[in-house]
Amino acid sequence: METNFSPLTQRRLRAGEHIRELTASVKLSHKSFIQPLFVDEAISSPREVNGLKGVQVDTIQSVLHTIEQDIKSGVTKFLLFPVPAGKKEKGFDFTFAVNVIKQIKEQFGNDVWIASDVCLCSYTTHGHCGILNDDHSQLLNSKTVDVLSHYSSLLANAGADGIAPSDMMDGRIGAIRNKLDALGYEQVSIMSYAAKFSSQFYGPFRDACHSAPNTNGLQNRKSYQISPFNANDAIASALRDEKEGADILMVKPATLYTDIIARLKQQTLKPLAAYHVSGEYAAIEGLAEKGLLDREAAHLETWVALSRSGTDIIISYASRHAKEWIGRASL
Ligand code: PBG
Repeated sequence: METNFSPLTQRRLRAGEHIRELTASVKLSHKSFIQPLFVDEAISSPREVNGLKGVQVDTIQSVLHTIEQDIKSGVTKFLLFPVPAGKKEKGFDFTFAVNVIKQIKEQFGNDVWIASDVCLCSYTTHGHCGILNDDHSQLLNSKTVDVLSHYSSLLANAGADGIAPSDMMDGRIGAIRNKLDALGYEQVSIMSYAAKFSSQFYGPFRDACHSAPNTNGLQNRKSYQISPFNANDAIASALRDEKEGADILMVKPATLYTDIIARLKQQTLKPLAAYHVSGEYAAIEGLAEKGLLDREAAHLETWVALSRSGTDIIISYASRHAKEWIGRASL
């Protein structure tokens, strides 16, 4: 069709940085970010994590310095992964995790919000997220939930602001909520790993926490983590966790599962968190190291994508850069 009008329809909105900023439908804030922290009882000085540039496993002493630096960079929310020195089949000792939380809250008080991961994979000799039966062929749901509830109450007592169960047992959110409430920890929130998939992308994390499954019995986590082939299971699990009392619902990994985030957003009013996991982070770092992309811009693009799909809270190993990177982002 012949017309006197300019052929431009959408490109006027893309013409310069000012108009791109004005018309952006996604606004990011570093205040929505959570920084993961690893603390290992068995090491005497901090060590690097294979594949995770800018991330270290701390000692109980060095984590205080890490947090101090992070606060200076604008981080106020943390997710703790405590790694105990001794591994067992049952009868776990949670003293180390409790001491880490106590020490952090003593030093930083309400300047920080800290949730602790609750799972048994870094406690067990076999690396599974719960207690196995004698021949290691099955993970025992109820026994595991009892231990996780007890563990959660110890962390709450130590001062944790949030409990983040990542084990994927059935019924653990309700059991933990009941236990916390019965002991007077009503104010402690639960961030449930609600839609946690059985994923390849946890590799660098398992390396850092010595938590890969290693038994001749159950050889992977497929009997408790969600199959990537089953979107309905993810939605059902998340809505079930909401009913049981979860305050925040997490989807994990993040970038391969934005369809789940978008679907869940339609079905719940709870805040949604997305965990950009170790393998996803390492993929960006690996490409950046080869000069094939810009690290900072790639992380930003990831965060924008998560936000666009309905994510309220982002858990990223690069959260400590969020304020600086978002502040100078060129749109
Ligand atoms: C523990 C746990 C895992 C992660 C968080 N909590 C690993 C797993 O399930 O094997 C992965 C986080 C990451 O890869 O960054 N169950």
